[in-house]
Amino acid sequence: MIGPMRPVIIAGNWKMQTTPADAGELAATIARRTNEPEVVRVLCPPFVCLAAVRDALAAEPTGRDVAVGAQNVHHELAGAYTGEISAPMLVGLATWTIVGHSERRRDAGETDALINQKVWRARDAGLHVILCVGEQLAEREAGRAAQVVRAQVRGCLDGVKAPAGGDAASGDLRAPWLTIAYEPVWAIGTGRTARGVDAAEMAAAIRRTLGELDFEADGEGVPVLYGGSVTSATIDEFLAEPAIDGALVGGASLKPDEMAGIVARAALTARGRGAQPAS
Ligand code: PGA
Repeated sequence: MIGPMRPVIIAGNWKMQTTPADAGELAATIARRTNEPEVVRVLCPPFVCLAAVRDALAAEPTGRDVAVGAQNVHHELAGAYTGEISAPMLVGLATWTIVGHSERRRDAGETDALINQKVWRARDAGLHVILCVGEQLAEREAGRAAQVVRAQVRGCLDGVKAPAGGDAASGDLRAPWLTIAYEPVWAIGTGRTARGVDAAEMAAAIRRTLGELDFEADGEGVPVLYGGSVTSATIDEFLAEPAIDGALVGGASLKPDEMAGIVARAALTARGRGAQPAS
């Protein structure tokens, strides 16, 4: 059976790097160097740089197709949460957001139950969600990687429904409202990547879980990205897997040369899979 057509997505997670003074220029440079309309490109700068990136992309002729994403949202709408940012605050600044990144699970103690609430909030604000899941090294070595990731997907998405207006409720019509990034924790920022076949196996486990959660077409329409030390030299191994729909890129996403190489390869994949340029 031929599954629903999924977009090829390259999302850059800039983490706690760049400032409002330099983020716009970096975003515009990346937009110019990655001008491949078949690839859904998303840049996720720090909160304080969102406006600068949005404005720079709007002013750059090749920036129109590049989406802006946040790196996190709070699980409540508003209230006494010093230093936090809620999903509705992002409207007009970003159309995507990452949630559940392993660095937040590690540093901010985020649990699957909390991330589940964040997914709801982001969805209700009309944001596209990139939900991150991934096992620790010890869990992989113990043969428990799929079990751990399946439990994360279940915990983060249990009870979560698609937006009332369907995928069209989100601001970027090129992608469904939900994307999952499989990011083995031991591969993030370490220069060590998973093997393409392992990532594909995990994508299958993720989609099996989505099916159990009653996602339409057993999650076949949900893009699954690989993340963890992706560079222009390592991306091909993942794009060669039909189950993998692109990458969530950290360190390399700050380097225009690297992004140019990664997105060029993603464009070849997208064309090979029959993607049409965004109109
Ligand atoms: P990395 O980060 O590419 O620097 O390993 C990936 C991520 O954390 O999303």
